[in-house]
Amino acid sequence: MTATANGTGSSNIWQLFKERRTRDAIYGAPTYWDSRASARRGMARSLWPSNVFNALWDARQRRLLERALGDVTGRRIVDVGSGTGRVTRWLAEQRGARQVVGLDFSQATVDAARHESSALVSSGLVRFEQADVVAGLDAIGVGAFDDAVVLGCFSVACADRAALERAMGNVARLVRKGGRVLLLEPIHRSPLLRRVLPLGLEEWIASANAAGLALQSADRMGFVPVRLLFSVRDLPRPLVSLAFGAGERLLDAAPWLSPLSDYKLLVFTRTA
Ligand SMILES: C[S@@+](CC[C@H](N)C(=O)[O-])C[C@H]1O[C@@H](n2cnc3c(N)ncnc32)[C@H](O)[C@@H]1O
Repeated sequence: MTATANGTGSSNIWQLFKERRTRDAIYGAPTYWDSRASARRGMARSLWPSNVFNALWDARQRRLLERALGDVTGRRIVDVGSGTGRVTRWLAEQRGARQVVGLDFSQATVDAARHESSALVSSGLVRFEQADVVAGLDAIGVGAFDDAVVLGCFSVACADRAALERAMGNVARLVRKGGRVLLLEPIHRSPLLRRVLPLGLEEWIASANAAGLALQSADRMGFVPVRLLFSVRDLPRPLVSLAFGAGERLLDAAPWLSPLSDYKLLVFTRTA
């Protein structure tokens, strides 16, 4: 993948569309995320091609996480599929977590996260490890965490229900009994919008239940029409900001528009 002027690596619709057609084969392979770590810049390594869009997406996700998790001061948190560490760093630096461990199966992405977080890593507040959520995470520490957060990882890491159940069980085991698992993932069967996993919300919740997780709260975000228009290439920030804000406000005001939001936030408690 070649870097483009804005460093995003895939700034035209056609390239993104081609990626879409082969996504089932590529998104689940660490080599794909390794190549993104070098071909793109900033948050585009783990998120959308446009970093103008990513700044708004990141802020919106942080507001949702803040509302869902509340005060995390002093808690040990594991960030599964942490990418280049934007959420790991935020939890440690701005939310007062005691320790945050970021896990990702792409070594180049882990290296980038360590590089970007060098002060936090040196202080011991943050650690990044290479680990595969489907293969198993017990080596990281069974029951060692108060909370686990998983953003946009299961939907690319898991190809089917069996893999989702394995991943769910692996993450649940990292969290102590009474601890929480928060998922913020694109969840739907739509052939156009889904990442790799073609499962609906009920199947996600059933897989979590099978792993001893009970649903506590749910929310959603990501007004799809705005994302399709603005996430691919960098357009003027005031324009993107206006459209993004309007789309997300519309979702908040009109629950019946839920089918137009693909990202679901689910918070579970480990009961077993
Ligand atoms: C869409 S990115 C999201 C990154 C980050 N959570 C964020 O929201 O900024 C998905 C990440 O999941 C990682 N990933 C995919 N499959 C994985 C697996 N089986 N085990 C661990 N990480 C995986 C990828 O390497 C990538 O960094």
